[in-house]
Amino acid sequence: MKHIILVISLMLSVSAQAQQPRDWENPHVLGINKLPYHATLQLPSKEAECKEIVSLDGQWQFRWSKDPESRPVGFERDDYDVSQWDKIAVPGNWQLQGFGKPIYVNMQYPFHRDRPSVTGEPDRDWYAYDHRNPVGSYVTFIDITKEMLSQNLILHFGGVHSAFYVWVNGQKVGYSQNSMSPAEFDITKYVHEGKNRLAVEVYRWSDGSYLECQDMWRLSGIFRPVQLWVRPLVHIADYKVEAVPNKDFSQAQVTADITVCNVGKARAKNLSVALNIDGKTIEGKLKSLAAGDTMHVRLSHTIDNPKLWSADIPNLYPFSIELPDEHFDYHLGVKRVECVGEVLKFNGKNIKLRGVNRHDHHPVTGRYVDRKTYEQDIMLMKQGNVNFLRTSHYPDDPYLYELCDRWGIYVMDEANQESHGYGYANKVMGEDPEWRDAHVDRAVSLVQRDKNHPSVIFWSLGNEGGVGPNLKAMRDAVVALDTIALPFCDTDRAQSDIYDDSYLTPEKFAEEARKVTDRPFIMREYAHAMGNSVGNFQEYWDVIYADSSICGAAIWDWVDQGILKKENDKEFWAYGGDFGDKPNDGPFCLNGLIAPDRTPHPHYYEVQHVYQPFLIERDGDNLRITPRYTFANIDEYDITTDTVTIGSERLLNVYVRLKEDKPWAKKGFAVASEQFVLQPYLFESSLGGKPAKVQKTANGLVAHTNRGTITVNSIGALTSWIVDGEEMLNSPLEPYFWKPENDNQHAAHFAERLVAWRDALDKRTYKSFRTEAASDGVKIISETTLPIGAELTIIYTITDEGKVKVDMDYRPTATNLPLLPKFGMRMRLPSDYANIAYHGRGPWENYPDRKRSAFIGQYMMPLSQFETEYIHPQDNGCRTDVRWFDIDNGKKNLHIEGCQPLCIRAWDYGEEDLERAQHPHEIQRGRFVNLNIDQNIHGVGGIDTWGSRTLPQYTIDANKPYHYAFVMSVL
Ligand code: GAL
Ligand code: MG
Repeated sequence: MKHIILVISLMLSVSAQAQQPRDWENPHVLGINKLPYHATLQLPSKEAECKEIVSLDGQWQFRWSKDPESRPVGFERDDYDVSQWDKIAVPGNWQLQGFGKPIYVNMQYPFHRDRPSVTGEPDRDWYAYDHRNPVGSYVTFIDITKEMLSQNLILHFGGVHSAFYVWVNGQKVGYSQNSMSPAEFDITKYVHEGKNRLAVEVYRWSDGSYLECQDMWRLSGIFRPVQLWVRPLVHIADYKVEAVPNKDFSQAQVTADITVCNVGKARAKNLSVALNIDGKTIEGKLKSLAAGDTMHVRLSHTIDNPKLWSADIPNLYPFSIELPDEHFDYHLGVKRVECVGEVLKFNGKNIKLRGVNRHDHHPVTGRYVDRKTYEQDIMLMKQGNVNFLRTSHYPDDPYLYELCDRWGIYVMDEANQESHGYGYANKVMGEDPEWRDAHVDRAVSLVQRDKNHPSVIFWSLGNEGGVGPNLKAMRDAVVALDTIALPFCDTDRAQSDIYDDSYLTPEKFAEEARKVTDRPFIMREYAHAMGNSVGNFQEYWDVIYADSSICGAAIWDWVDQGILKKENDKEFWAYGGDFGDKPNDGPFCLNGLIAPDRTPHPHYYEVQHVYQPFLIERDGDNLRITPRYTFANIDEYDITTDTVTIGSERLLNVYVRLKEDKPWAKKGFAVASEQFVLQPYLFESSLGGKPAKVQKTANGLVAHTNRGTITVNSIGALTSWIVDGEEMLNSPLEPYFWKPENDNQHAAHFAERLVAWRDALDKRTYKSFRTEAASDGVKIISETTLPIGAELTIIYTITDEGKVKVDMDYRPTATNLPLLPKFGMRMRLPSDYANIAYHGRGPWENYPDRKRSAFIGQYMMPLSQFETEYIHPQDNGCRTDVRWFDIDNGKKNLHIEGCQPLCIRAWDYGEEDLERAQHPHEIQRGRFVNLNIDQNIHGVGGIDTWGSRTLPQYTIDANKPYHYAFVMSVL
């Protein structure tokens, strides 16, 4: 009997152990031996001045395993030889250093969804099928000196994706998840003098991944800096410094709440804690701090007539916090952010948040973003008149926040919480008490680290995650830790001080904002900037300026998440699927205002213009300049004007320029600009020549000019144009109403809806063909019928000098014709026509719904620059309001003169080449130059990339008649 009992109990314990969930598949284990989260103690830019910090970054030994079963168990031991292992750069992501595949997905989990497990069997063709949970095993060595041994040694990880174990000299130290926040461990008792082995085992997925389902590349590894902090035994564990202004801002009450701990074995006596600020030292005394104990010290100071912090004028008060053996530098800003009824007030005044969302992304190092890139990003934001940044969808490296403090950007700091794989606003994760702590951990880590940054005005509980008590618990945690910045939540509006929506049309935005009357209104995401986009941007701001309860909106998003990839010696920006990653969401990660290498896209400039801090208006001979930034002062700027004369046109360009250098731009930089037409351009319509002679041939009608011949066929195509013995045309000048889609249009089923126009012109049929004499040129007149339901007349008026005037007349006969993709003509020139000069809007690409930033001027550029190379090939390169356009090959120059403004697109490839390619390097180029000469073109759209259409005023109704004309000549 005894035996049997023993056997049974043994079996029980074995099976109990087998069922014991692994830490990384257990939502109750968020960390083991992790130190409490705390504030960034030293300003990142001053880390070098802090003698406590030893960087452990560099090349570490590395072994990648495709699943936990094949990982090198026991590698943490001193006798485990890792000398033959691979090397990996820390910080970095292993997928971008040759180990495993990056996966780009938007809303779904790329592993089998079955919380908290991440190792279930997914679809067979998924990457995760054969790579159930890849593991990265890292080893490095730390030199510990004798002096260090008497101090407190803390290992600091800035960010590790997604979960990891730590060993020192073979002894297990701890475990952590919550990948975008720091993890710290006390390793004092594990080290010895000399060389110490640090082993880290990182799991690609963990139960934490259920809260990290953000629309981004899913990358892994130790991706933020690793540091050893050599700390005095009595040290500052944390501090929170608040600066609260009084009602009329005449004083600010500074309170420093400093947590001092004694990790030594002896009682510390008569400690002095100091706050140095504003030229003063405020001291607090701690009579006695027992070994192992922690105490709080409160120091206060009053600043009279404080200089307030704002994004416009980011006044900072540097301060330091000191113990006898410790010194930290930081800064504070005096500010107040509050909701007063429906209005968001900043320092007592209404503000507008001109925002962007930004993912922490670098095209080579992935989730590790170096400081130079942060500086470049914040510089481009400031130059782009962006004053608000949402750190979508997790906390970034602390350096980013320091830059926002110093250069002036309002920040919505977002918790690393998105359970999107269970659905937007799901209850599965939001209501499950088993996941409550996991949610709260992410709110606490957010606030604890960033609570001292003046730039933070909102704490966001995450993005597109759950609703319910877990979100409420997050809010409660945030409010308990900080009362300066406001809590924000998108999914669970009950937890948010600001009412949020996203991707509304301008009209809907205005309507919804009127309905919501209990709090300010924001669109945390709008103007989806995917590909050739950001149309109707001014329309949004007309709505925002018109309603004081709307506090702003943030563009989705800042930078295209392309990854640099090399294939057969060709480098290109890779997107979802380019690594054979499955599942994937293709190019949906390319929604930036700037390219992965931080080159601004054309729509960056439109944002810069619409976001500008001054409204510049002309009233007769006077200019009226009205500040639009709350704290901007016109006296700090120079106003300059340029009068530009181009031919008959006179333009006035007005600039508001920086009077002084700023950290993000030099003196003279234009923060605002506007253009006014003083004298409009006179569009020529007379040819002023003598008629050419016309002859009938088998191919149609041939006009003989002084320089050659021009042939027109019976359905109105100009099929040959010989000038000085050379053919100008690679393919005919013909009416052509098709244009390739851009990403927005694709999602809005542009091709399906408008497909009738794709070959509508090829199907045109002969109606009449004749010549007519005129005083300045001979007219060749072609009338055709479009079976779709329209009549088309094209008239070529040709002079003896070889000038050709083209008139096109469109008259619909049917009703309910689909929108015209464009109205105009196309021809192809020999491929050596590669230099462009024109008078019209530029220099960058512009379309009817996105042209405010592109001033009228005279521009010159090579064809390659006239094109815009989108990472996902699509329609591009338009210039609107073109008066004349030249394209030459060094010998001959084709000159096109509009009889009204033209829209011109020129490419070294054809529509069909563009539509076939998935990446720019796949576009077949160089056979000809494709030239579209149009009166009008469908706008790019600017709402979202999942179905919204271009606003009607920027489309072309085919049920109306149109006429346009231009004159061509070869110089
Ligand atoms: C939003 C989401 C973003 C991104 C965007 C589409 O709804 O919050 O993370 O996925 O859609 O690009
Ligand atoms: Mg866990």
